[in-house]
Order: sequence, then structure tokens, then C-alpha cells
Amino acid sequence: MNRKITIAIDGFSSTGKSTIAKLLAKKYNYIYVDTGAMYRAVTLFAKMNKLVDQDYLKKKELISCLNSISLTFQFNKDLGFAEMFLNKKNVEKEIRTLQVSQLVSKVAAISEVRRKLVAEQQQMGKDGGVVMDGRDIGTVVFPDADLKLFMTASADKRAIRRYKELIDKGDDVNFEEILFNVQERDRIDSTREDSPLVKAEDAIEFDNSDMGIEEQFERICNLVDRKLSE
Ligand code: DC
Repeated sequence: MNRKITIAIDGFSSTGKSTIAKLLAKKYNYIYVDTGAMYRAVTLFAKMNKLVDQDYLKKKELISCLNSISLTFQFNKDLGFAEMFLNKKNVEKEIRTLQVSQLVSKVAAISEVRRKLVAEQQQMGKDGGVVMDGRDIGTVVFPDADLKLFMTASADKRAIRRYKELIDKGDDVNFEEILFNVQERDRIDSTREDSPLVKAEDAIEFDNSDMGIEEQFERICNLVDRKLSE
């Protein structure tokens, strides 16, 4: 039987991490874990309970609620990936809004939140056969991952992608606002004290500003196949 490896994909927002991760999970029959969805779900919980908004963050109160936040993924056959459930409710749509994107970096900077989610992620990936994407997978969650990828692209290109995604979903958004959000999240995610977004030393970098997903996927599959044959 083939051995099952652990694939860590980190990088900035809207760099196609989740697209590549979903394709890999499908091809190799691995579990895909979107760790950003978990930070987004905690943020949605905090927003719904008035613990965070643009002008405030009730950090202590949120920390004291962490035990009552249950996060689960449930595979949706029609979509081909697992959807995020917060306390048993499907929140896949709500967590992808610009409102949540504007608050998530603040919540993700809280060490207690990170500790809870990292422990859950380690549990989900403990048997290998997993593709996990996020910001700290190759550095903190699985520092011994078999394959580490680091995705980048220019902020403009990423904002254009995010803008199109949200417009296609019918959201009423403004491009400048999206570009600002992409840049602001890069800044907060890369400069926070706990587990900042950095490229792991042994990660392989992909800049996909001008590279199509297919070409990139092919290159990444070659890397995976090489690992599997080691
Ligand atoms: O991947 P995403 O854009 O859905 O992630 C949302 C936010 O969650 C991102 O701005 C930073 C945070 N995040 C994190 O801090 N660590 C992770 N492993 C994944 C996401």
C-alpha cells in the first residue's frame, strides 16, 4: 500500500492555496483541511456574540467562550469538499463574506484561539494522508510535513481574484475595499507575534501571479509523486 504523506500549503490570502489543496486531495484521495475556515468560524462566532467588530475586540470574553465553540467539517459530495460547521450549523456561506474577512486577522492573532485550533488540526492530520492549507501549517502545525508549499502572488492579482469570486456569489463589494483587505490581512498575518505567516525554510515557493492553476498543479503533483516514491 502507498504511504500517506502530509502536505502543508501556506501562503498569503487568495493565492489559490485552497484550489490546489482541493485538487490534490481529490487526486490522491486525501483529507483536505481548510484551516482558514476554522479561524473564520471562530470570528463569525465572535461577531454574532458581539465580541468583535471593526472598532473593538473583547479578547478576554472570547477566550472564556472558546470551550463552547465546536468546529467540524462535513464532506459535501455535490461540492466535492468539506463544509464548515459551527456548533452543528453549516456556516460555509457566512464565513466567506468580506465582513468576516475584515475581522478574522484580529481574532487569528489571539494565542488562545491559535492553541485550540492548532491542537484540533494536529488531531485531524495525525495519520497522514492530509492536505492542509493555512498560514502556519509548515511552521507550527506540522513542522515535519513531508511536503511544504508556499504560495505567493501580487496583491493586485489576488484582489482581482477575490473580487471576482465575491461578485460571482452576488455580493455587493468594491474593488478598492477588497484590495485594502488583502493588504491589511497580509500585514497583520505576517507581523503578529504568535505564529506569523512566514515561509518555512524547507518550503517550496510558487509565485502564481502569472501562472495558471493547471500548470502549477502539474508541477506540484510531480513533487508529490517524487515524495511518494522515496
Ligand atoms: O485562508 P483564509 O484567507 O481563509 O484565512 C483567513 C484568515 O485566517 C487569514 O487572514 C489568517 C488566518 N489564518 C491563520 O492565522 N492561520 C491559519 N493556519 C489559517 C488562517
